[in-house]
Amino acid sequence: MKPTKATITFDNGSKTIELPILSGTLGEDVIDIRALGKHGYFTYDPGFLSTASCSSDITFIDGEKGLLYYRGYPIEQLAEQCDFMEVSYLLMNGELPNAEQKQSFTNTIRSHTMLHDQLTNVFRGFRRDAHPMAVMVGVVGSMSAFYHDALDVHDPQHREVSSYRLLAKVPTIAAWSYKYNLGQPFIYPQNRFNYAQNFLHMMFATPCETTEPNSILADAFEKILILHADHEQNASTSTVRLVGSSGANPFACVSAGIASLWGPAHGGANEATLKMLEEIGDVSRIDTYIKRAKDKSDTFRLMGFGHRVYRNMDPRAAIMRQTCHQVLDELGLHDDPIFKLALKLEQIALEDEYFVSKKLYPNVDFYSGIVMRAMGIPDSMFTAIFAMARTAGWIAQWSEMIAHPEARIGRPRQLYTGENRRDVIPVAKR
Ligand code: SDX
Repeated sequence: MKPTKATITFDNGSKTIELPILSGTLGEDVIDIRALGKHGYFTYDPGFLSTASCSSDITFIDGEKGLLYYRGYPIEQLAEQCDFMEVSYLLMNGELPNAEQKQSFTNTIRSHTMLHDQLTNVFRGFRRDAHPMAVMVGVVGSMSAFYHDALDVHDPQHREVSSYRLLAKVPTIAAWSYKYNLGQPFIYPQNRFNYAQNFLHMMFATPCETTEPNSILADAFEKILILHADHEQNASTSTVRLVGSSGANPFACVSAGIASLWGPAHGGANEATLKMLEEIGDVSRIDTYIKRAKDKSDTFRLMGFGHRVYRNMDPRAAIMRQTCHQVLDELGLHDDPIFKLALKLEQIALEDEYFVSKKLYPNVDFYSGIVMRAMGIPDSMFTAIFAMARTAGWIAQWSEMIAHPEARIGRPRQLYTGENRRDVIPVAKR
């Protein structure tokens, strides 16, 4: 029989604390420590390695088995059988849409893809060489100043329309941040295209010539979006939840999520992985970098490897590797030296005792950069595309948190290690 409570005893026999154990549908049980503060103790868990910040119905990860479910559906089935609109609908509503619901949802999103024309001025405040993620943080945050007719976060209709605006406009903002870098005019969304086709169109079309979508590349891009759409309480999603817990508007919350995702330890790893592969350059240099990754005195980490939760292959990496093959074959790049180097690095690392013992496997970022580069997408846009996909997860998690009966402002405590009380000495005597 599973335990229903945990008992804390103290070695000085001072007290015994009983705490309930809560069970979810799947995964680890949790010890409910909410009453601990009353007994004069906090828990201590920097980086939240053993801390559940919330309960959620949206995404389940089993790190040991390498499982990832969105609303109970395995990621492999969703990537194979659905498109990003279906998966976004699923994350937001809890069920896959039928054909009529899918068409209505798609039409709604298409009706929000344009930006308020004055938003183009916000782009012009940036230097032309601004990183797309810097532009996205700024422009998504500034949506609060343009779409303030539906910012009552406790009104379900307001939450819904703001969610639609974010899901629809973030691709436009991402593509336009790239066009701004190039000095090319912004390309407006075309509602005849699906989500992936539309983004690729806004990225690569010019007023002088439009693009006709390559269905294999567009399908591969839809897969990339699906694989990145949500991932439980990762750093950027936890950021969105924490910002949202104060009642901040959804545009400010997603802007904060984009900022958190930008870090190379998180969503910035896809761009960092490609830079690392280019720096390694040749199979003969792999061992040198593997040695550096194991050297504690060296800050170098093998980008695209390791994960806080997965102690097995990230199921997304396996799908991404397969997508990589398909795209490189479609583009006649199967001899791509970077891809071959990545395959060799993966093989060597997975046979190396250090990586095996620490259960460091390729994660979703290991192959995604190679696929996107093969599609002609610049490295600087990789994390912007990750942010575009994760916007679906962020708005679903944000809405779930706001509507949750246990919702309250997030306010962690600390272990204070500073100075004890002391009196100020007047500056003349210091
Ligand atoms: C994403 O949380 C999510 O779900 C994130 C994400 C999502 O979809 O939202 O999945 C997306 O961010 C994927 C991760 C992308 N990041 C990278 O690829 C960057 C490289 N990876 C590492 O920085 C690291 O593995 C993390 C940040 C991903 C995980 O860090 P943890 O859980 O804090 O693990 P750790 O740093 O404590 O490492 C445990 C041990 C350490 O050795 P010891 O101190 O125990 O001796 O493993 C070592 C680390 O030194 N280690 C690595 C390594 N990752 C961990 N050593 C070399 N290379 C690596 N990549």
